[in-house]
Amino acid sequence: MKQDLQLWQLLPPAQEEIIAAFQEDLAAKLAGSASSLSLLPSFLLPATGQEEGDFVALDFGGTNARMARIRLGGQGRHKVLKQVSKPLGVHLTAEGHAEGLFDFLASLAADIVEPEERLPLGHTFSFPCEQANLQQAQLLRWSKEIATPGVIGQDVNQLLREAFARAGLQIQPVAIINDTIATLLAGTYLLPGTQIGSILGTGHNTAYFEPSRNMLLNLESGAFRAIPGNEFDAALDAASLHPGEQPLEKRVSGRYLGELVRLALLKEHPHCGLKQPYCVTPFHLAAWLHPGERCPFPLPPDVVGTARQLAQWATWRSARLAALTYVALFRHLGSSGPIAIDGSLYEHLPGYASMVRVTLEEHGYRIPVRLLKGGSALGAALAACAASKNLL
Ligand code: GLC
Repeated sequence: MKQDLQLWQLLPPAQEEIIAAFQEDLAAKLAGSASSLSLLPSFLLPATGQEEGDFVALDFGGTNARMARIRLGGQGRHKVLKQVSKPLGVHLTAEGHAEGLFDFLASLAADIVEPEERLPLGHTFSFPCEQANLQQAQLLRWSKEIATPGVIGQDVNQLLREAFARAGLQIQPVAIINDTIATLLAGTYLLPGTQIGSILGTGHNTAYFEPSRNMLLNLESGAFRAIPGNEFDAALDAASLHPGEQPLEKRVSGRYLGELVRLALLKEHPHCGLKQPYCVTPFHLAAWLHPGERCPFPLPPDVVGTARQLAQWATWRSARLAALTYVALFRHLGSSGPIAIDGSLYEHLPGYASMVRVTLEEHGYRIPVRLLKGGSALGAALAACAASKNLL
């Protein structure tokens, strides 16, 4: 193969530069100066362990919507009593519209609650929002190639409230949180001392507890800029829905990783047939990364060999970049603690979790990194519990 590892590799000096730049960007934002990071307030503290009761959790991610009825029993105990999950499909495209999207979300509740039940709902909404309190959140911008018109600038929970009213349901949306905040909150409930919550799935982003603000904060770290890129990163960005936005997310997350590998593979084997943008997904990458797994596409053996190699390189770079931002956060905090991660990339991509762990260890952090499957829904229930206490 002609391409070389250098295009994807992050040598130790480059890694140190990324860590330092992330710390600088964070410090700048905390000081109120220009920065590619955000510090979006959640109005939440770590869980206390005293959270109890029944709550509805709505998890609106980048692909599916999930509604669950969750019973919190305190001290990390919880039980999912009922749940339903559906793909969001056309509702997320420019052909969709706000009312249709929120009616679809409200329709999920039919299997979860009786029409007259007034249960508090926590809403994990996985996009950047400006919040003035725990109940309201205005969508700042879409990410992850989502384009539904009529939602940017709106109070997302109000749109949900109106949809419940149209459906004749009494559920009360009392809290709205980012999925990184949900994962961090769930982490602190299950493993007290958890310091970082992160998503490595369709999108990528991280939240942490900032002592000087006494609050869990959403960094929108997918927007972090000071990272090296290659010609495939540039090509992917230029053809994306929002060029110039989310540079870190476009190198790390599952929405883009397969496309990066496809672009690199096409350069090496222009006639390999993988012409359709985004036809390579993390599902295909997983097969390429798994030794002995059959190739998911009908490709000649030499092309498969290249695909496997490129998938390895791109995946290592993704895991390393994410881990370097965690290192930067620990250096900023001057301490380290467990990390809670949710997302399909971290869960399903062969070797991914150990790549994150190895990178942390290379930088001196031998700490528990925990996969929190369903952390978004548990976090939503915990946030609803915190909000209902505040509302009493
Ligand atoms: C995107 C969103 C962010 C979310 C992440 C993971 O980066 O902007 O809010 O947390 O995806 O779902």
